[in-house]
Amino acid sequence: MLSGGRDRRKSGTRPEAVTRVAGPSRANRRTSDRQIDCREADPNCGENGWRGRILAPTLTSLRSRMMPGSMSRAGSGFGSGGVRLAAWSVLHHGQRMSPATRTFAARTSGPSAPAGPAPPAPAVLGAWSGQASDVLTGEDALRDAIADIHRPVYVLDHDDAAHAGARRAVACRGEMRFGTDVRLFDGDRGIIGHAAPMRLGSLGDPEFRTAHRLKLACVAGAMANGIGSVEVVEAMSRAGMVGIFGAAGLPLRTIEAAIDRLTSSLGGAPFGFNLIHSPNEPDLEHGVVDLYLRHGVRLVEASAYMRLTLPLIRYRVSGIYRDTDGKVVTPNRVIAKVSRVEVATRFFSPPPEAFLQELVASGDITETQARLAREIPVAQDLTAEADSGGHTDNRPAVGLLPTMIALRDRIQREYGYQESLRVGAAGGIATPHAVAAVFAMGAAYVLVGSVNQSCVEAGTSQAVREMLAASEQADIAMAPAADMFEMGVKVQVLKRGTMFAMRAGRLYELYRTYGSIDEIPADERKKLEETVFRATFDEILDEVRTYFLDRDPAQWERAQVDPQHRMALAFRWYLGQTSIWANSGEPSRSLDYQIWCGPGMGAFNAWVQDSFLAEARNRSVVTVSLNFLYGAAVLGRIQTLRSQGVTLSPEQQQVLPRTLAQLELHLP
Ligand SMILES: Cc1cc2nc3c(=O)[nH]c(=O)nc-3n(C[C@H](O)[C@H](O)[C@H](O)COP(=O)(O)O)c2cc1C
Repeated sequence: MLSGGRDRRKSGTRPEAVTRVAGPSRANRRTSDRQIDCREADPNCGENGWRGRILAPTLTSLRSRMMPGSMSRAGSGFGSGGVRLAAWSVLHHGQRMSPATRTFAARTSGPSAPAGPAPPAPAVLGAWSGQASDVLTGEDALRDAIADIHRPVYVLDHDDAAHAGARRAVACRGEMRFGTDVRLFDGDRGIIGHAAPMRLGSLGDPEFRTAHRLKLACVAGAMANGIGSVEVVEAMSRAGMVGIFGAAGLPLRTIEAAIDRLTSSLGGAPFGFNLIHSPNEPDLEHGVVDLYLRHGVRLVEASAYMRLTLPLIRYRVSGIYRDTDGKVVTPNRVIAKVSRVEVATRFFSPPPEAFLQELVASGDITETQARLAREIPVAQDLTAEADSGGHTDNRPAVGLLPTMIALRDRIQREYGYQESLRVGAAGGIATPHAVAAVFAMGAAYVLVGSVNQSCVEAGTSQAVREMLAASEQADIAMAPAADMFEMGVKVQVLKRGTMFAMRAGRLYELYRTYGSIDEIPADERKKLEETVFRATFDEILDEVRTYFLDRDPAQWERAQVDPQHRMALAFRWYLGQTSIWANSGEPSRSLDYQIWCGPGMGAFNAWVQDSFLAEARNRSVVTVSLNFLYGAAVLGRIQTLRSQGVTLSPEQQQVLPRTLAQLELHLP
């Protein structure tokens, strides 16, 4: 055993010994150095030598695999300026090796075993003193302490004869002294790990929460056709988060009814509406913006934009003014959703001059307002959307988010906006681990889509919720999008239990191959009519005409002179119906259900398996969102302890789903 503080403290630390601890004696330092030198010179110079370089990391991982309940410890010592208090953990491991690990050690040791570096011992961060009754030992004590996020966790160096077998302990209260020169007095214990209290309301960017009047930095993203329903929006808003109503694909009167309901039911609490770019239906975008301005909708999630449009800019700058403090105030806020840098650049820049001039000319804004608009970005908040359900570029979040954050900083420097730009994360936000990761990467907020569709509030059918709850990560595919079919744009959908992706893919192939419905070979046409559409082309075109004459007559006029467009509208009829059948749960059409879904759905299902959240009927958007935030807070504490050198067993690092009642103890 190396000489060190651990043994001294075991027999009761005297003030003189404390002085030695704080400032290393030459003798102690030499002993310690000699030991390390020996290992470095020859990995096989002695038992301690090879153990230090090879066995410690091997045993650490072996322990967690073979003895998941054990707390493996890598030893502890004072950091800079202090004498090393504890011996390398390998010495302890050596003394405590079970027969199984001894056999393993024998197999991995010897001349042919690779020489790896010894694991760094956790530094002693400070000194703890307090009631003996506050010191807890055992696997569960540390796990429970980490889970109790409102209280600090102190992992204590613990080698007390009274607790035979325990190598470290945990305390959540007591007196702490931190620093590199802290002395340990009689009865003190070294702190080898410390995680500060966390609040769910501290996650993300405080300016985001303030700007949108939220308690928690979590958004329920828009889901078309009212799948992002008024119930989703109400539930999120009442829990201090925000939901975006899924206005895309809905007629204006339905959107208006949703605005009326949310305005009265939420009594001024935040809510948002989707403003989706509709390149095929420009009049619709104007109509939606008219509606939002008329009804005072103060937040939109702007999505599917490649280029900015006049209605979008009109919404953003309407009512802009400078307050008495000289600050430019925009009553209307835009959260942009993008996955490409060039589009993000447009949203983070001030509105294009040409649009401002057009709005001045049309009397929508004054010259003064146009001047003020040059001082603000089109969107203060931008969601970097990685691989997601629905429209997606399938980008990985770990690459996309840092790129968008760097862009944010560059544009903020360039324009020097009064209010800082912010970047949130979406796409695969489906586990506490994903939430913890993107917050660690600097996300201002998180936005969830796919998982919310499987919740009870979503405006879809129980059949769809159950199909989603049964899916795995690979059960998704890209399929042609109804709204941008001719452009070859695709959406990510559920593959398991439905033939939609395959059938829609075939329709796109036919569209690319033939110039009109008549050119499609007769047997293929027959198969489509009988098996896929279950209607004739004539019947479908009748419905298409009625639909477009009401909604967008130009489309139907074009179909009269362009037979390929006519064919596209017939195929788009099928693509449109498949969403309606899914949302209504039409049992005779389950094989045609079009269900937008990203890989996050499978990740969520894997996380909640064997818990109450495995059942779709137990999923509510608030329970899910709070689980994400709470789990992220716990994982943040776990990561802090691990980065200090505290090793944790798999069980101690596990974050399991909690009920709403359990989560409410941790609010806000
Ligand atoms: C069923 C469904 C419908 C969606 N509809 C829209 C939409 O109409 N407008 C929009 O901006 N985003 C839409 N999205 C995208 C979500 O708002 C969100 O950005 C995305 O789902 C996040 O990724 P995730 O699916 O991995 O959680 C939809 C997503 C799903 C799953």
